[in-house]
Amino acid sequence: MSERISLTMQVNGQPYPMEIDPRVTLLDALPEHLNLTGTKKGCDQGQCGACTVLVNGQRVLSCLTLAAQADGAEVTSIEGLQSASGELHPVQRCFVENDAFQCGYCTPGQIMSAVACIKEGHAGSDDEIREYMSGNLCRCGAYPHIIDAIKQAAAEMAKESA
Ligand code: FES
Ligand code: FES
Repeated sequence: MSERISLTMQVNGQPYPMEIDPRVTLLDALPEHLNLTGTKKGCDQGQCGACTVLVNGQRVLSCLTLAAQADGAEVTSIEGLQSASGELHPVQRCFVENDAFQCGYCTPGQIMSAVACIKEGHAGSDDEIREYMSGNLCRCGAYPHIIDAIKQAAAEMAKESA
C-alpha cells in the first residue's frame, strides 16, 4: 500500500483538506472523499468526456487527472454551477429548456464542457460548437439539442455581460 499524501483543493468554493493515496484520480476523489456524485465515469480512459470538470477555469478530464495534481487548485464540478440562491446556471437551464439529454449520463460533462466552450469564445456557430464539444460523447445522440442549448446559453450570457 502506498503512503498517503495530504492535499487541499478548493471545490465549488469550499476548501477540502484530504489524506489520499497519490494514485487516486480526481474523478474518484470527488465521490469518495467529498461525497460529490454528479461527475460521471464513462470510459475512465479519456475518451468520452463524461468526467469533465473545471480546474482553475479550464476543462479537464478528471479520469486522467490525479487528485494530487489539483492540490491548491480551484475545482468546479456540476454541483458548483448553480448560484448561492439555488438558481440554475444559464447553461444548465438551457439544457433543460432544449431537452438536451435523454438518459442524462453524459450531461454533467457536457454542461461543464459547454460552460468552458462558451467562456473560451468557441460557441460562435454550430460547426464551432460541434468541434469544441467533440470530446464529449453522447450515446443517446442528443447532439442537435445540445448544440441548440449551447447556442441559446451563449447568446443569453453575451447579452447579460453586454
Ligand atoms: S470517464 Fe473520463 S473521458 Fe471518459
Ligand atoms: S443523454 Fe444519454 S449519453 Fe447523452
